[in-house]
Amino acid sequence: MSAKKITPWVVGNWKMNPQQQKVTEWISQFDTALNNSPIDEQKCHLGIAPTALALSELKAHKFNRNVHAVAQDVSRFSGTGAFTGEMSAELLKDYQIDYVLIGHSERRELLNDNIDVLKAKLKSALSAGITVIYCVGETLQQREDGQAEQIVLQQICDIASTVGETQWAQILVAYEPIWAIGTGKTASPEDAQAMHEKIRAGLKQLTSQDIPLLYGGSVKPENAVDLATCPDINGALVGGASLQADSFYKIAAAFAEN
Ligand code: 13P
Repeated sequence: MSAKKITPWVVGNWKMNPQQQKVTEWISQFDTALNNSPIDEQKCHLGIAPTALALSELKAHKFNRNVHAVAQDVSRFSGTGAFTGEMSAELLKDYQIDYVLIGHSERRELLNDNIDVLKAKLKSALSAGITVIYCVGETLQQREDGQAEQIVLQQICDIASTVGETQWAQILVAYEPIWAIGTGKTASPEDAQAMHEKIRAGLKQLTSQDIPLLYGGSVKPENAVDLATCPDINGALVGGASLQADSFYKIAAAFAEN
């Protein structure tokens, strides 16, 4: 399968946003956008990672197509038990949440998700049957030092021993250069494509599965078409622009149509 045959994924990461009323408004606006111009599931998968508080509201809404509810995090502890504040993979699954973000740079940098923690979360999510959007990316310093490719490929190799061959079907990789997150500086389509090509080649050494590769970092309606036309970019993980239903819809349409 050529990389472009992979159905794209466009996923919004709402991070620690927004307040309840805005969630309800967003759902209603996105519903209207989908009803007026449906992007079908064959053209583009859609997901939203709201706060844990809003997962159920999103999940309960009947859109005219799948809009997958994605958890922003999962516990490294499995099952149920005395782990205050934690949400296990089994509990997510029990609430029909089938997707989770793991490895986001904000969690790695601000919340001490080191590689041991990430591997434990990954193991737990995969065993519970949850699909993982695994995030990788380099800092500006690493890029300027010419280490971007090595760092990113190492982040993927780090998890190789945790993912069984058939479990690669439960993995999407999101390349999110840290210097492009929330800064308005998107990687150029050429730079993003070049890194995605390397990631794809690296993944080929580990699995025969075709892994969707999402780009994240200041994706907006204005740059979505250029990113969507890159052969190895199979979607986007969208932060700020996903908080506006119309912007998110336009990004999804760009990927669905290219
Ligand atoms: P922005 O789109 O706001 O740069 O955020 C990207 C991101 O971190 C998505 O996970």
